[in-house]
Order: sequence, then C-alpha cells, then structure tokens
Amino acid sequence: MSGLDGVIAADTALSDVDGEAGRLIIRGRSLDELIAHCHYEQVLTLLWATLFPECDGASRLDEALGHARAAVFEHVGAADAHVLALPPVDAVRLLLGRLEDENDLQTALRLVAAPAVLTPAVIRLARGLRPIPPDPTAAHAADMLRMLHGHTPDPAQAAALDRYLVSASDHGLNASTFTARVIASTRAGLTAALVGALCALKGPLHGGAPGPVLDMLDAIGVPGAAKPWLEAALARGERLMGFGHRIYRVRDPRADAIQGTLQMLANAGGLQPARLQLAEAVEHAALEVLSRHKPDRPLQTNLEFYTALLLEALGFPREAFTCVFAAGRAGGWVAHAREQVLRGRLIRPLSRYVGPPSSPAADRLAV
Ligand code: ACO
Repeated sequence: MSGLDGVIAADTALSDVDGEAGRLIIRGRSLDELIAHCHYEQVLTLLWATLFPECDGASRLDEALGHARAAVFEHVGAADAHVLALPPVDAVRLLLGRLEDENDLQTALRLVAAPAVLTPAVIRLARGLRPIPPDPTAAHAADMLRMLHGHTPDPAQAAALDRYLVSASDHGLNASTFTARVIASTRAGLTAALVGALCALKGPLHGGAPGPVLDMLDAIGVPGAAKPWLEAALARGERLMGFGHRIYRVRDPRADAIQGTLQMLANAGGLQPARLQLAEAVEHAALEVLSRHKPDRPLQTNLEFYTALLLEALGFPREAFTCVFAAGRAGGWVAHAREQVLRGRLIRPLSRYVGPPSSPAADRLAV
C-alpha cells in the first residue's frame, strides 16, 4: 500500500488519466482537442463550471482574470530582500500566502493570477530590474511573458506558453492536487489549499523536475554523449529526470503536446533546432537505457522532459520552472479544492501502527 498506489481517494468530474492508453481527459474533452482549440482562460471556465455560481453561465473569465492579475500585483511590494534571496518557488509561496483565505470566485481568480504575476516580478526584482505591472486587457499567457521580458511577446511564444498552461492545467489526483483536496476537506480556505499544493509541487519527483532536466541536457552537451552519460547516472543510482510516472505505462500525452509545441516554436524561429535535436537524442537514449535498467517497469517520457526546453526557450530561468508549472496547475488545484468542499467529506485515512507494543515496563518509564 506504500504511496497509496492504486487507491481511489476521491470521485471527480474534473479530469481522468488513462495510464494504459496514454490519454488525458479534462471535463470530457481530450488534451489534444483542448490544446488545439482552447486558450487557458477557456479551460479555466470549463474546469470551474458548476463549482462557482458565477461560472454556471459559462461566461468567459478573461476580463475577471485580468483584474485579478492587477490586484495581485499590489503584493509585489512585499518582496523584500529576504523574500528575493529565496528560490523563486519559495518567494512565490510567501507572497501567495498573503492573499485572503476565502472560498469565493474572486479569491480563486487571484490564486490563478498569483503565480503568473509573482513569478516574473520576483525574477526581475532578483535581477535588479523593475517589475512590470500586468495589462488586464491582455491574454493571460501573453501578459505573463510581457511581465517577464518588458515587451509584447512574439505571438508564437505567447501561443506556446498558452499551450503549456493548458497542458499543465489538471491531471487527476497527483500529489499536489491531493494535498489541495486534503486541506480543502478541513474547510480551510482556497489560499491555504494552494499554498499547500505549491509546497507539494516543488519536490523533484513532481513539479521540481524540469530544472534538473535542463541541467542534465547541459551536462550531456552533444547527442553522442547521451548514452554513456545516462548509463553512468543510473549506475550511480540516480533517477533520470523527465522519465517515469506513477500512472502512465506509455508515453505521457502531455510530452507529445509539448514536443509538438516546441516544433512549432522552432518553425517560427523561436528555438534553435539543434537544442531540440539534442533533447530528442537524449530522450531516445534514455528510453533505451531505462528499458535495460528496469525491464519489468515501463519508464517513459513524462511532461517535464520537453517542458524544460520550452520554458528555457520562452526565457524563464530554470530555477523558476516550477512556478510556471504552478501558473498552469493553479486552475486545477482551485477546481479540486472547490469540488472537495462542495461534494466531499473530511479526508482522514488510517495508519497502521508498526511501533513497539505497549508494556507495563515502558509505561513506567514514560511516567
Ligand atoms: N529513472 C531511473 N529509475 C526510475 C525512474 C527514473 N526516472 N523512475 C522510476 N525509477 C525506478 C525506481 O528507482 C524504482 O526502482 P526500484 O524498484 O529498484 O526501487 C522503480 O523504477 C519504481 O519507482 P517508484 O518510485 O516506485 O515509481 P513511482 O511510480 O512512484 O515513480 C516518479 C514515479 C516519482 C515520477 C518516478 O518515475 C521518478 O522519480 N521520475 C523522475 C522524476 C520526474 O521526472 N518527476 C516528474 C514526474 S511528472 C509530474 O509530476 C508532472
């Protein structure tokens, strides 16, 4: 039972991960369809329908999300030297924790806006640059890039980030979403649930993986060095970042989505083709060495492998990649927290006691 492998811990109408077929369904629509036809704001509307009364008419949330970005920007002033000395994910967590801990739509929108606004702001402040205020009328992904770089992004780059945010928006009961649901089940507010979720996300076995993926690509350097480098890493007992998944036994469909997005970016001149070729060669070699390393356990490419290359191409520093993941997943965290409050019960499982039995001698010692 270790790791709750195979345990169903919640009913959800939000997303379904089919690990055998390699399919992700969000509110009845496949990831491929969503990526092709929906912006992040539309996926948010889809996820939040029936969970907030104001969302039931399925009106678009674009404008409200723009205002939420502007409201969150007021917290950037709290990013003092202590906050900026932290890794970006911890700086964003501290600033996110300043938001009011309520359960309404306004709080939900601010929580989704927060990583999108705070991430560029802490990156710029740590570099000694002025933070750029949001443009409430801009599209969410485009505005995030504008706040990072200080100019309107190239449409291909904005589209690429939008596709990434959609790909990351929701994914069943992963560790961070489960954390959000546990916190929400106690009737703590949405902010508490999202702070906890972000803490669960940052570990390298979950949303902390893409930074180390880039370190790995840099260390390998050229396609020909991939196989010996990867074999040596496995021989040292290391895990290859960007590979393996608890649910998928085949390739993660989000890896296909992001690889396709990278190809689009390369075609538009926004990515060095050699960088993509290196990643593809490393992927090929990794799948080969992993299949020999663990013949009984299919270890395939997950979302994080190509995410690393995409976020690098969009100009995010690797230490902030987890914050960009949070900017996408925040929509799903809010939806799950709301679903838990509206339709779930307090989550309170049992543990099996494996410590020493009680004895009169031990009881005497305790006194
Ligand atoms: N490289 C090398 N070996 C691996 C890898 C990997 N990437 N993944 C799993 N294994 C091995 C483990 O060492 C373990 O071997 P053992 O039985 O000899 O101890 C075996 O495969 C099973 O591993 P578990 O940790 O039990 O499998 P689980 O399904 O819980 O792991 C996880 C999933 C944590 C994602 C794992 O594959 C991993 O650590 N991958 C690398 C980190 C990563 O890419 N994280 C991002 C995940 S995607 C996301 O969160 C959005």
